[in-house]
Order: sequence, then C-alpha cells, then structure tokens
Amino acid sequence: MEHTTERFRPAYHFTPAAHWMNDPNGMVFFDGEYHLFYQHNPDDIVHGPMYWGHAVSEDLVHWEHLPIGIHPDENGVIFSGSAVVDWNDTTGFFNGSPGLVAIFTHHRRHPETEKVEQRQSLAYSKDRGRTWTMYVNNPVLESPGERDFRDPKVFWYEPDGRWIMILAVKNKVSLYGSANLKDWVFLSDFSGGSHGGVWECPDLFPVFVEGTDTTKWVLEVDINPGAIAGGSGGQYFVGHFDGQQFIPDDPEDSPLWLDYGKDHYAGVSWSDIPPEDGRLLWIGWMSNWQYANHTPTTGWRNAMTIPRELTLRDVDGKLRLVQRPVREVGTLRADTKVLSAVTVTPDQPLRLPGVGQYLDMDIQVKLRDCAEWGIRLSKGGDEETLVGYDSAKQELYVDRTHSGLVDFHPEFSGRRSAPLQLEDTRLSLRILVDRCSVEVFAADGLISMTELIFPSAASGDVEVFVKDNAADIEELQIHRLQS
Ligand code: FRU
Repeated sequence: MEHTTERFRPAYHFTPAAHWMNDPNGMVFFDGEYHLFYQHNPDDIVHGPMYWGHAVSEDLVHWEHLPIGIHPDENGVIFSGSAVVDWNDTTGFFNGSPGLVAIFTHHRRHPETEKVEQRQSLAYSKDRGRTWTMYVNNPVLESPGERDFRDPKVFWYEPDGRWIMILAVKNKVSLYGSANLKDWVFLSDFSGGSHGGVWECPDLFPVFVEGTDTTKWVLEVDINPGAIAGGSGGQYFVGHFDGQQFIPDDPEDSPLWLDYGKDHYAGVSWSDIPPEDGRLLWIGWMSNWQYANHTPTTGWRNAMTIPRELTLRDVDGKLRLVQRPVREVGTLRADTKVLSAVTVTPDQPLRLPGVGQYLDMDIQVKLRDCAEWGIRLSKGGDEETLVGYDSAKQELYVDRTHSGLVDFHPEFSGRRSAPLQLEDTRLSLRILVDRCSVEVFAADGLISMTELIFPSAASGDVEVFVKDNAADIEELQIHRLQS
C-alpha cells in the first residue's frame, strides 16, 4: 500500500516535496548544477501566494530539494521568471566575479489603490543560488499600461553585447534590452498565432536544425485558455531575431502546437548550458489550468515534464520543433525486456502482465492495413490508458477515459489526438510512464503528447492490440525505470 501522501507520486519526474507547484522558473546551469526553481505555495496544495521553490541536480534526473529560494516582500508575491549567470558582473552585484541573477514578476495589489500591479524585479545570489538578496531598487521594469505584464525570460545577446528580455503582455509579447539588467528599454512587440486566451511564460532561443550546423530562432509562448487540447497549452513560431525584433519566417504557418496532450504548460529553456554541451534543454509544468487545483493527490500537487532536448527538423520544407527526453533518462533503466518480430491480431494481443507504472518504452510497429492499433498502459481491472493510432483519421491519440480517477473535474476525462502521417505504415513511439503521467513521442520527437493519469497502483499491465487485421511489432523495448 502506498502511503496516502505518496499516492500517485512519480519516481523520476520532479515533484515538490510538499504542497503546491506550478511553472518551472529560473532554470540556469551554474558551477556543475542545474537549478530548477518553481512557482510554489508552501502553505497549501492549491495556487496561492507564490514563492520560488528550489531544487538542484547534476544530471537532470536526480533532484535535491533545497530551502525556498525567493520569498514575497513588500513589492508582492513572486510570480514566474528566469535566472542568468552574470558572467561579467554587468549588474555590479558581484565585485567582478560571476553570480546568479533572477529576474521575475512581482505581483501585488497596490496598498492604496487596490489595483493589481505586475512589475519586473531582480534578486541575486553570491553562493550558488543558496541564498538570495532582493535588489534595493526593485522593481526594475513597470508596465506601460497593461495589467498582465509578466514572466520575464532573459538571455544575453552576444552580437549586441546586451541582455534581452521577452515577457508576456496580455495577448502579445514584448522585447526589452538592457546593458545591466537594471535599466530596460522597449524594443518591439510580437503577436501572431492563436489568441484564445491570455499569453504567458514566453521564451526565445536559437535551436539547431537537425543535420546542419545552423540554428533558427524559436519563439514559444503559452496560452490560457485556447490551446489545441483545450485549456492551457503552448504554441511556437520559427523565424529570425535580429537583436531588436522577432520576425516569423511564415506568419501564415501558425499556430504550431508544442504538445497535443492536455498537460504541457509553461515550458522554458535552461540558461547557460555550456557550449561544449550545446543542447537546448527545457522542462514544462505537467498540468492544465482547467483542473490543476483539483487533481487527486494529497499533501503535494503537480509534477514537471521530463526534461527535454529541443531541435528543429525540416519536414516538407517547413521547420518543426522536435522534443526528446534528455539522454540522462537512460541512466535510470533498471531492467529491460526486448521483444522483436511479434505479430498481434484481434484475437492475439501481446500481453505484458505486471510490468508496472514506471516505464520507458520504445516501439516500432508496422500496421498491416489495420484501422486501429494501440497499446494499453497502466491496465488492471476496468482501468487502462490507451495510446493508439487511428489509420482512417491519420491520428495518434491518448485516451484516458478509463485511466483511473477521472471524475474530479469535467474537463479531465477523454481522448486527445494529434495529426500524424505514417511512412510505409510504420509507427515508432517512445513512451514514458511514471505513475501519474504518460508522455508520448512519435516520429522521433516530432509529435509529443503529455497527459496526466491517476490509476490505482495495482494497474500494472501493458497490452498491445489491434482492432482488425494485424500489426507486426518489429521491436519493443520496455525498460523499468527507478530513481
Ligand atoms: C502561468 C502563470 C504565470 C504567472 C504564474 C503565477 O501558469 O499564470 O503567468 O507568473 O503562473 O503563479
């Protein structure tokens, strides 16, 4: 029996030790450590007064919880934001040495007027992120008008030798520039794509195009509500950044969705990954604002996605974002089953009883003219989570209708789909299952679908099925992961 507060706790995805978590914040690599701060309410398991919770890792898959990083003060509570290494002490905070600077949104109701204010502020750390000092002249950037003015992501733009900030302003993003992180000038606005809700948590970064040594700029921004799977989710644009403004290659080529599941939000990239590593790494929050405050955990609430590596791929002349779990996940593999050349028919599914709920699977399958192929995960009793392919619709889907606890919110249950054309009727999937989540990566990361599930602990079977005809499993690798 799982202890109640540990019920649904994943083994290898980041969760807060206790209480509430939303967006990842302040992700930066410094002195051998990946930092992960997060929106945290230390007093409850619902969203409330926000602090920056804190954890560090040396490998992105084992995390050490640290005391709260940044606390509210007279300027308000601490909303989302980023952190950078100030290598050249442009701020003057560090006596000429490098140090960490966090740039975040101070959110408050004005003590007299009661008006909501969202303003950008700084805090800095001279001891590898262990303790933080608020900058005395906070805030450093006030809103020119809009009340929604938040989630600054800052990076150093080498060609112009200055810092660039991208932040969400109601239903657009604004770019600002600064030499010292303290004085900011407005550069430009960008607004395109989908506008079904408010824009939040933007990021702007260069990404390698697979098979080349060139990069293209990607602007990502979250939207709540109005995302493809309903509720909150992320979209992106591919284009060019010239130090002043972001220009999309093809404004008509949008919206492009980051993930077709319901539970991928506020993804942002790690700053200062060493050039000899060179990866673009990011992590997202694995929930949806429709029901994030209602998921059936006790004592703690919400998990991050697996950290992912991003690349761009040329797909029929258009660049598309590709996400793959970081390779470090491979170090968690405890035991492995490999099966090859197995044919499944409607009468003969492939049954893998008791493989559990902490899995990393790779599957290549050739569909022999079958209308529907799929895999049942976390199966037991009446419970199952389906990941499948509908040939007529040419869609990959995740169906959590019978995944376990679903009725805690009306928007939770159901099936979500992503467009996916197969080549030569071959489907290749990477699937991560970690107790309360399923992340599906198809076509080598071109499509990702992230969904929460709440099955009973006993539902540990996996089964591969077809609805008609047959499918040939060319190879199935199933690794049990431990952390
Ligand atoms: C996104 C968000 C941010 C905000 C934070 C508050 O999930 O709404 O825009 O800074 O959460 O916790």
